[in-house]
Amino acid sequence: LAKIEIKLSDIPAGKSVTFKWRGKPLFIRHRTDAEIQAEQSVPVSSLRDPQHDNERVKDPKWLVVLGVCTHLGCVPINNAGDFGGYYCPCHGSHYDASGRIRKGPAPLNLEVPEYSFPSDDLLIVG
Ligand code: FES
Repeated sequence: LAKIEIKLSDIPAGKSVTFKWRGKPLFIRHRTDAEIQAEQSVPVSSLRDPQHDNERVKDPKWLVVLGVCTHLGCVPINNAGDFGGYYCPCHGSHYDASGRIRKGPAPLNLEVPEYSFPSDDLLIVG
């Protein structure tokens, strides 16, 4: 199956970039220290699909998720919504900067695909 290689130094902190992978949008977000701190401190019990940020990232600086809303599959907008992550305009689902559903009709967090960091500057998804 197709893998995608992404050079991390091309993505500055605070930016979320969309790639296409296996026909789907793939969001790679270089999280700031403030975002990391905020996501790490969200009480898991307050979440609809309870996952600690640590369960969703391999390196807290990088969030890797599919850009497919878990409600009915629209593509959420980067850096939008009430929780500093993503907003799906189709029916108003708000995701945080860990890709977790926080408000709106979507039932689940954005999916985290298989990925690895073979070196400091390289991410391979797939
Ligand atoms: Fe995203 Fe419905 S498809 S909120």
